[in-house]
Amino acid sequence: MEKETKRNVFTGSIGFVLAAAGSAVGLGNIWRFPYLAARDGGGMFLAVYIVLALTFGFTLLLTEIAIGRKTKQSPLTAYGKLNPKWKGLGVIACLIPIIILPYYCAIGGWVIKYFLVYLTGNGASAAQDGYFEGFISGYTQPIVLFLLFLAATAFIIFRGVNRGIESLSKILMPILLVFVVVIAVFALTLNDTDSDGVTRTGIQGLGIYLIPDFKGMTLSKFFTVLLDAMGQLFFSLSVAMGIMITYGSYVHDDANLKTSINQIEIFDTLVAFLAGVMIIPAVYTFAGTDGMSASGPGLMFVTLPKVFSEMGFIGNIIGVVFFAMVLFAALTSAVSIMEAVVSSLMDKFHLSRVKAAVIELIIALIAGLAVCLGYNFFYFDLPLPNGATAQILDLMDYASNNILMPLVAIGTCILVGWVVTPKTIIDEVEKTGCKMGRKRLYVVMVKFVAPVMLAVLFLKSLGI
Ligand code: ALA
Repeated sequence: MEKETKRNVFTGSIGFVLAAAGSAVGLGNIWRFPYLAARDGGGMFLAVYIVLALTFGFTLLLTEIAIGRKTKQSPLTAYGKLNPKWKGLGVIACLIPIIILPYYCAIGGWVIKYFLVYLTGNGASAAQDGYFEGFISGYTQPIVLFLLFLAATAFIIFRGVNRGIESLSKILMPILLVFVVVIAVFALTLNDTDSDGVTRTGIQGLGIYLIPDFKGMTLSKFFTVLLDAMGQLFFSLSVAMGIMITYGSYVHDDANLKTSINQIEIFDTLVAFLAGVMIIPAVYTFAGTDGMSASGPGLMFVTLPKVFSEMGFIGNIIGVVFFAMVLFAALTSAVSIMEAVVSSLMDKFHLSRVKAAVIELIIALIAGLAVCLGYNFFYFDLPLPNGATAQILDLMDYASNNILMPLVAIGTCILVGWVVTPKTIIDEVEKTGCKMGRKRLYVVMVKFVAPVMLAVLFLKSLGI
């Protein structure tokens, strides 16, 4: 176990960039991005997403990493260190990863299940109707696999920042990138003729993904695309979850933040883009445009297994590679979510890493068991303000993503834009002598544009 007498520091910028990219690249990139892109006009969603990543995403990511490095604190105490009156914002920011970790690990358990099913050559069974619902409504398997995923996450955290988080990211992220590229290239070679004699190809599917579809585009539809892209970017970059503040607090004072932030953004956006190239052509080839309407668990655990089974033997191999890749993405993200809480407990209560990790482990264990039992013992269907119905997992997802995260992001923009002023952040970035770039854009974004856009997103997610 790593002895921590002084604050951890990432050994170098590669370690930091891969750890932060590991946090950013997660389930959000793989199961949400392709679905939104397919639904929101393909190339048009992509274009909007990239513009937002360079403006809105850049602003939030830079702000959080700089807050972390400046204060050398994790979220629970970082806001209070910037301005004591804003301590409360740190409490909410720390509550978010506490809520997310249990359900993220429950989904991690589902990913292990599918990985094992394909590894043992049983992919065809996962393609049967009702397979996924049957699995999650069972008791033993979802619970055991949740515990396994949580244990793996905790193991990395116990090993600490350098021997745990940094080493894991340095190994898994390059492999993940190779897997994504391999599956994406494979998806483009597909073709299939259905029972009506219609032949569809992966390249046609790529066209659907990349060529903007302006059919029926109105201002209000464009507004929906904009908000979808913004919500996605937010979750995907792991901002407003306390994570980037935590990782920022481990960055060396000499490191060039500007370069690192650009690299993290490029990595995350590239993987999200490639996830679309992996998934949309494959789903289109075997299930047509109708197959692309599934999102979230439906896309990953129901539609894709059906697509893989259409590919015959090779589909089973692709299933192994695909779910291994998702597992890596989920694990590096779960580790970052747990670290945000553990680091907060260490900073606030001066606990050792072991004690802080055990406390968070117990919380995640109890809440995660409730999530698993939410599909059987505690089953209910609760209507949400945004029209969806929720079980325990969706409820936790809604509370964190739709309510608390926008609130924290709005609070962060107001604190930085109007209280401590953007100069604090700019000075932090430039203290190594590098010129920040996009400086004026940053000031306008953090003071005006981002808080207003976030407030609209927040109201929309409340169904207002
Ligand atoms: N940023 C992580 C994801 O996309 C949490 O899943």
